[in-house]
Amino acid sequence: MALHGLINGARVWLVLTLVVTVSACSHQSLQGNQAELPRLDTRDGRHALMVDGEPFLILAGQSNNSANYPAVLDQVWPSIEKLGANTLSIPVAWEQIEPREGEFDFSYLDTLIAEAHERDIRLVLLWFATWKNNAPHYAPAWVKLDNERFPRVIQRNGETLNSLSPHADTTREADKKAFVELMTYLRDNDPNHTVMMVQVQNEPGTYRSVRDFSPMAEAIFERPVPEQLTRGLGIEHGGNWPETFGDDADEFLHAYSIARYINSIAEAGKAVKNLPMNVNVALRNPFYPGEPGQYSSGGATDNVLDLWKVAAPAIDMISPDIYFRDHRTVERVMELYSRPDNALFVAEIGNDQPYARYFFSALGHQGIGFAPFGMDDTGYMNYPLGAPTFDDQVIENFAQVYRLVAPWAREWARLSFEGKVWGASEPGGDREMSQRIWNAEASPEELEQQAETFTQHLDLGRWQAEVTYGRPMFWIEPPEGNDPPSGGALIAQLDDDEFLITGLNSRVSLSPAGEQEGERYMVVRAEEGYFNDAGEWQFIRVWNGDQTDWGLNFRERPFLLRVRMATY
Ligand code: DGJ
Repeated sequence: MALHGLINGARVWLVLTLVVTVSACSHQSLQGNQAELPRLDTRDGRHALMVDGEPFLILAGQSNNSANYPAVLDQVWPSIEKLGANTLSIPVAWEQIEPREGEFDFSYLDTLIAEAHERDIRLVLLWFATWKNNAPHYAPAWVKLDNERFPRVIQRNGETLNSLSPHADTTREADKKAFVELMTYLRDNDPNHTVMMVQVQNEPGTYRSVRDFSPMAEAIFERPVPEQLTRGLGIEHGGNWPETFGDDADEFLHAYSIARYINSIAEAGKAVKNLPMNVNVALRNPFYPGEPGQYSSGGATDNVLDLWKVAAPAIDMISPDIYFRDHRTVERVMELYSRPDNALFVAEIGNDQPYARYFFSALGHQGIGFAPFGMDDTGYMNYPLGAPTFDDQVIENFAQVYRLVAPWAREWARLSFEGKVWGASEPGGDREMSQRIWNAEASPEELEQQAETFTQHLDLGRWQAEVTYGRPMFWIEPPEGNDPPSGGALIAQLDDDEFLITGLNSRVSLSPAGEQEGERYMVVRAEEGYFNDAGEWQFIRVWNGDQTDWGLNFRERPFLLRVRMATY
């Protein structure tokens, strides 16, 4: 009887333990998933944005400015959905969360986060505060109207500019306090990390002056450059700013001061909720830079990237806002901002048709994301930067490039993290010459030159890819480019001889390279397929005959190919 009771008791205990353990486990795994913070991983100079523990590719759209109110979100979501985006970049303004000093209101974020989560869309929150394109436009009135407590930049000639000085502790601490409240709100109210990244300020810097010339700034200019900076830049004998940096001293002081200011805000925010944080840049033209002040001085332009990296270690990445339309400049910008110490995230790019193809370049530079600007129907068009009108075609230009990778974006991001991806976008070309070619008026030399322009080579190791634009799917007609330029191709390597290939308005042909260059070769198998939700390859058919005789031809329809090559 006693034994029976004991056994029964033990059974009950066992069952109870099992129930408790099972429920604890499922609770834990749920919590485990939920608790995994997004982060930026860097390994061997390559980067991955980890979301839910796996590399994530940001296929974003950025809203227009002033879309940060619950009442207009229904003019944002339909465009983001048509775009096929997985992320929305959207502002949160200091003035809206702290309209009166010390009183906080997060009702906008309550709505935004709930609506994004419902749609399975992640958010990059843009903290519009001390700097929104150099000015404090989005700071609360109690900041903007108190020039004593929150001083503005003074030009060399004594004129006051509408750009806050980075040297005022009062301004930094007030901004920081609001930012910490924001991050506390996210910590306590966003367990799914729907907000996966935060951009700290927007295009910080100052126009019309290289730096602040207030007495406060003048005193700092004459003090020794902080050792943190000289050491970080490998400078042995520093002095004050002009002694250390000569002609660059004005700009470097402004950049350093802004970078430190932003770093201190980011650091305080991360201590509350450690999300990835970035800073975006009003670029200077890399080929025709002009003078600081003509471009936004103090922002993380290409000439001060190293300085920013030293000064702002809490900032995970520095992200270009691209509004150059020509291929050469865009390529150069992407080169400059994709570095072993900087993941390329195109935080903004114009939403007009020519920009869409630069998605291929961004991914080719192992970019972690891309965000065309102004992707909503709130009634604003930033033409001539972006498209003159906003309609479904504007969205579709970007949707069609996103469609090529959206179903396997996680795979792409994983392969990109391993350094096994390439991308190319169509160059601009000479329109007049194209016209003459189409009218059959071009000389053989011109034809050759045009063909060269529209032929790119990617080095894949044992293989090379030739990517060409604007030729029929059949035959070897020389490439003439598309009108307007729209093409691109993406390649990811599965092993030495096997690749995933997709593209738009382009032809991709693989041939032996390196040690096996010149050998006879063939496409062993080109499978058309797709990845299912579990990330498994699903076979549709084999491409052969016309589909492979003249290279792999892509038009508007999205195809994903798994291609095995061999020599014989
Ligand atoms: C770049 C800024 O970062 C955006 O907020 C916006 O002002 C565009 N320029 C212009 O529309």
